[in-house]
Amino acid sequence: MVFFIPSKMGNRPIGIFDSGVGGLTVWREFVKALPKEDVIYYADSVNCPYGPKSQQEIIKIVDEVVQFLLAKNVKMIIVACNTATAAAIDYLRFTYPIPFIGMEPAVKPAALNSKTKSIAVLATEGTFNGKLYLETKNKFASDVEVHIKVGDKLVDIVENNKIYNPETALHIEELMAPLIKRNIDHLVLGCTHYPFLLEILQQVLPPEVKIIDPAPAVIKQAAKVLTENKLLRTENEKPEYEFYSSGNSEILKSFVFKITKINYKIQTA
Ligand code: DGL
Repeated sequence: MVFFIPSKMGNRPIGIFDSGVGGLTVWREFVKALPKEDVIYYADSVNCPYGPKSQQEIIKIVDEVVQFLLAKNVKMIIVACNTATAAAIDYLRFTYPIPFIGMEPAVKPAALNSKTKSIAVLATEGTFNGKLYLETKNKFASDVEVHIKVGDKLVDIVENNKIYNPETALHIEELMAPLIKRNIDHLVLGCTHYPFLLEILQQVLPPEVKIIDPAPAVIKQAAKVLTENKLLRTENEKPEYEFYSSGNSEILKSFVFKITKINYKIQTA
């Protein structure tokens, strides 16, 4: 869909949000690909996790986040959360007059490139319950076996910075064991928190299993929508990055530092 917005409006920031720090895995791809854009990141840590919540609850929560970002005059919002996309993207697109980019489980490239005809998707309960996952699976993966796995406790592990605890590797081994038995050759990361666990997943999975993070494809789509809507910023010497948390700002601060090596000020929303 093309929104006719005067070109000067392109100088407004982009909003990116997630239930917590997971969306930073999308943020980092965004700033790499589109380095002229100002970005406001919102971690809704107080409501994390979204995964086990009902669709109605998620819509209500996400609505408040979107209102916050709209008050900051954002020109587009990236819902950097598969669970929130599954529950609320239709509602958001219907309700607000700016473009929304959502996360999509990368079932298509996994299914197309699978040699064993067996792939797996790791995501939250909420994502598997949404129609987007089912539609994507039915459309692109009718001739492969798709094994689904709820990433039980993984969001909590990331949010509490327990990534390198020995128990985490054991837990991931347990989660992956049945998938390895099914001879999968692709694992789709269907939650934006999971790329922070990439190293451990790589250690646990056989080397021939390709792990797919959909963030780069989502950012490509974001760039396309910005261009189509004449919202793409081409000049900006010093892009501004702002970070807000609705909860514990220390966690957000440490993850932002982890990926940027810069001590950004984290504001409380
Ligand atoms: N990062 C999330 C996702 O992509 C949300 C996880 C959660 O809050 O349960 O699904």
